[in-house]
Amino acid sequence: MRVSFADAGRADLVTILSLNRHVTDVGQPYESQRKALGDPMLHITSLTKTFAGKTAVDRATLEIDGPAMIGIIGRSGAGKSTLLRMLNGLTPATSGEVTFQGKAVTGLKGAPLRAWQAQCAMIFQQFNLVPRMDVVSNVLHGTLNKRSTLATMFNLYPREDIGRAIDILERLGIAEHAAKRAEALSGGQQQRVAIARALMQDPAIILADEPIASLDPMNAQIVMDALRRIHDEDGRTVICNLHTLDTARRYCDRVIGMFAGRIVFDGRPDQLTTGVARDIYGAGDDFSEAATSTAIAVLDRPGMLARMPA
Ligand SMILES: Nc1ncnc2c1ncn2[C@@H]1O[C@H](COP(=O)(O)OP(=O)(O)O)[C@@H](O)[C@H]1O
Ligand SMILES: [Mg+2]
Repeated sequence: MRVSFADAGRADLVTILSLNRHVTDVGQPYESQRKALGDPMLHITSLTKTFAGKTAVDRATLEIDGPAMIGIIGRSGAGKSTLLRMLNGLTPATSGEVTFQGKAVTGLKGAPLRAWQAQCAMIFQQFNLVPRMDVVSNVLHGTLNKRSTLATMFNLYPREDIGRAIDILERLGIAEHAAKRAEALSGGQQQRVAIARALMQDPAIILADEPIASLDPMNAQIVMDALRRIHDEDGRTVICNLHTLDTARRYCDRVIGMFAGRIVFDGRPDQLTTGVARDIYGAGDDFSEAATSTAIAVLDRPGMLARMPA
């Protein structure tokens, strides 16, 4: 089925997208668990992960007290992914604690863990979409944490949720692709679908693990712009693992540097001197920032706060 957002009005689009799934007017639409956004108050204390005796994250301690846009940088193997995965419970911590708004979120299981994971949505380098499924269904999967197994089994979605999914896709400039299979989209578009799926949960925090590492510079910029805008406009906290310094400098207000599992820098981008960067990347005197740059550096910053393409 091909449908262009320009041809079909929004109501028509909802109808068209409803054809290949069971839509109900009686089902409970997805409702956020959050009362209000408020401060994230995400406190990480001495968080540690060891894999078979090898320490991947070593006593990481961080406090995030206001909505923030944070970049975590460091070499491959520094522990960035493990740190993010421990934050949302994908990987259990070996020791240490994470609290969110005063409550411990480490060691959760079952429904409380799923509730936390809805508050703290994650996006990945490889998008992790269901390739053969259409875009809007992928976005609706963002509500899985809240839906009953039965509703999921029968592909049952409240009409309201489909409308919301389309609104989110529209905000990210990809509503016209709503009915296409995810695999038909470009990498940059797929990553925006993954962001839409995360937003469907209305999370307080978005964790992004190298979200632009598989994208060309143009799409990398579009995706980073989208994350920045979500932070600026919604007040969500975005914590983004980034391979490279220049992207962190360009988009983030706070940069955390990891080296060999430890947090070795935590400060503003302007405090990140070449000497500090050398420590983070563990390079010698011949260290050059060019070695840690992506081609995104060639693009201008002004696009950053501009509207995303429709
Ligand atoms: N599931 C795992 N099993 C064993 N070792 C792992 C696992 N995940 C990560 N590691 C190790 O932990 C360290 C940190 O990895 P990772 O968090 O992926 O770093 P980064 O994301 O900064 O590249 C690396 O030495 C890696 O090999
Ligand atoms: Mg990683």
